[in-house]
Amino acid sequence: MNDETVPALSAAPLLPPHVFADQSSRGGVAVRALLAGAGGYLPRRIVTNDDLAARLETSDAWIAARTGIRQRHIAEPDETATFMGATASRAALTAAGAVPKDVDALIVATSTPDEAFPATAVRIQHALGIAHGFAFDLSAACSGFIYALGVADALIRTGQARGALVIGTEVYSRILDWQDRGTCVLFGDGAGAVFLTAGAGSGASTDRGLLSTHLHSDGAFGDLLSVDGAVGRRDRPGVLLMNGREVFRHAVARMAEAVDEALAANHLTHEDVDWLVPHQANLRIIDAMGRRLHLPTERVVVTVDRHANTSAASIPLALAEALADGRIRPGQLVLMEALGGGLTWGSALLRV
Ligand code: UT7
Repeated sequence: MNDETVPALSAAPLLPPHVFADQSSRGGVAVRALLAGAGGYLPRRIVTNDDLAARLETSDAWIAARTGIRQRHIAEPDETATFMGATASRAALTAAGAVPKDVDALIVATSTPDEAFPATAVRIQHALGIAHGFAFDLSAACSGFIYALGVADALIRTGQARGALVIGTEVYSRILDWQDRGTCVLFGDGAGAVFLTAGAGSGASTDRGLLSTHLHSDGAFGDLLSVDGAVGRRDRPGVLLMNGREVFRHAVARMAEAVDEALAANHLTHEDVDWLVPHQANLRIIDAMGRRLHLPTERVVVTVDRHANTSAASIPLALAEALADGRIRPGQLVLMEALGGGLTWGSALLRV
């Protein structure tokens, strides 16, 4: 397209600046997204490090020492992104004491949708028997769940949704090069979901609900972690490629910034954090983040040993597990952070 043929947008702002001011507080009452319930689904088949070592030049010792991973769940053909996401969603609704008709927005974070379109979100919406509201997919790789939380939070705060299912569902096993020991040992499949509902509060950080999300991306680092193809390219279905050392370096630095940003924005310190629920890519990264927050290891939710890296599903899976077993309790402050392909990264603070 020739730029000259496109009329320039008005140089003056289309809306006066005050329209963009925080609309979340109406008459002294702040609308907030409350966590009502969480659920997860893991594929039936477990693949251990030893299983991989039987057909690859790798070992349980290397994988465990470098990543903390001991096993991962790998989807069978019937365990699609839709099936896993719908199953996790049903579990989240059950935990919330809610029913599908309570859902008016459904957001799926995935890099491995079943089809280019319709969105996996719409397939899940139908599988749950929901015929109202709206559903869409969001692509931000391993940060997808944090991004989807941010979008759902905005929809709820602005009154566009009252009940939002936020789902991470991934079948990375289908985009891995199973001959590449540098990447295939790191990932697993699964889905996690949370159900958020609109609630009211004073706007203070002691209120229940999502306090804030902070989202970032920088495409200059797009080639550090990518899938070099897609449905739009018949010549290349694509496999996952990663410069592990560089991604590791960015992960520690960028997530630390996003954590500081979240705490500062809410006038909180690391001492206020009850739980860290981080993206589960590597135990060394998780430990580094926990140390930075001065959190004892028992205050950090870890699933990477059993799930490996399930990308956008890793945080909701970990959250669902720690809520279900009673570790995370109502009133506690949960800090979530992630970094993934894009690069994308971000954080979310939630008072359960
Ligand atoms: O979720 C998105 C975010 N992703 C991440 O945060 C991942 C970040 N990166 C990492 O977690 C780590 O960089 C890895 C786990 C991917 C790799 O760990 P590393 O300590 O950075 O290892 P390396 O890539 O520097 O590789 C060290 C050695 C290499 O051999 P040489 O060149 O030193 O002889 C690799 O070839 O380990 C070798 N290696 C393996 N050996 C046995 C790489 N993969 C394997 C393997 N088994 N599976």
